[in-house]
Amino acid sequence: MACHSAERKMIGPTYKAIAERHGKDESAIKLLSEKIVKGGGGNWGQLPMPPQPGVSPEEAEALAKWILSHE
Ligand code: HEM
Repeated sequence: MACHSAERKMIGPTYKAIAERHGKDESAIKLLSEKIVKGGGGNWGQLPMPPQPGVSPEEAEALAKWILSHE
């Protein structure tokens, strides 16, 4: 919550913007789950997203589905 919110731009993109960009993409859940755990940058701007090693693959998939529900 320090970096993302549903609609207010913070350090990271809003969940709404992520859902709009990836919503229709079949492999979005897999792509976003991996991004959540491994982190990375370059899709939204200069700032990279730090890895989230404390998030399990199952939790990352649940988070990805929840984020995509913000369309
Ligand atoms: C478990 C917690 C988190 C979740 C579920 C999450 C989720 C996401 C997702 C789904 C994306 C978009 C990926 C893409 O479109 O390629 C993203 C990007 C990003 N997140 Fe997070 N995030 C988390 C924690 C954080 C934290 C703690 C920070 C800040 C320190 C952060 C900063 C960013 C930034 C800067 C981007 C854009 C990276 C780029 O340009 O590719 N995120 N995040």
